[in-house]
Amino acid sequence: MIEQFEEAVEYLQNRGVKAPEIGVILGTGLGDKFVAAMEVELTISYEDIPHFPLVTVLSHDGKLIYGTVHGKKVVALDGRFHYYEGYSMQQITLPVRVLKMLGIKKLLLSNAAGNMNLSWKKGELMLIDDHINMQPDNPLRGQNFDELGPRFPDMSAPYDPSMNTILEEIAKENKITLRKGVYVSVIGPNLETRAEYRFLRNIGADVVGMSTVPEVIVANHMGLPCCAISVMTDDCDPDNLSPINIDEIIAIAGKAEEKLTELYTELIKRL
Ligand code: HPA
Repeated sequence: MIEQFEEAVEYLQNRGVKAPEIGVILGTGLGDKFVAAMEVELTISYEDIPHFPLVTVLSHDGKLIYGTVHGKKVVALDGRFHYYEGYSMQQITLPVRVLKMLGIKKLLLSNAAGNMNLSWKKGELMLIDDHINMQPDNPLRGQNFDELGPRFPDMSAPYDPSMNTILEEIAKENKITLRKGVYVSVIGPNLETRAEYRFLRNIGADVVGMSTVPEVIVANHMGLPCCAISVMTDDCDPDNLSPINIDEIIAIAGKAEEKLTELYTELIKRL
């Protein structure tokens, strides 16, 4: 595995990806506006990067974009991998390992999620303060890479409190509604039943999605500070549930992207 990370890193360095400071992972329906806010130097298709999995979901692109935001060197991953696509946990988190080995100091993630908190509504953003891992596997299962991180990583504050404070300040200054809560990660790809939404709400989650947690576990394993924002794309009230419409989810994510881009570009400026 380590050789695979190193081969991908070497390839990207040879293509000109040098000393990035910040990594950004863009979720479902998110990406175009953030990339438009970058001064792009290089766009590299995942197909060309050794050992990178290929994106199988239509709403995701599959490219690595290297450039600057407010003068800071950024690598953005436009297109992420999910366990439901059939990849192993090690494969879906390989990009995070590679970004860390390229030198990033901070990781910013985003995703689309279902909203189970009845005092919030779809279209709003939620800063992830904590998570519950309900995925059936763990990227750290198996041999530990001691050179990358400990066997039993601490998860007492998986989302960097100082970045979260800055994001909340930016939201306030710019009058962006930014909720704060708990994300639960499930395998998918089916959406939840009413009984499952009720269960997930009762165990303490505000939003539910199919990504992010594996990447955050790996980032914490390597001591890489990260933050994550969910775009709440659908309201999941078990007592009043309408059938899900994936096109609507993608459209709502697209609409919220402007605010997400504002938060993340300003955060990058202040880091
Ligand atoms: N459930 C799981 N994942 C999701 C949802 C949902 O309701 N909405 C967007 N991603």
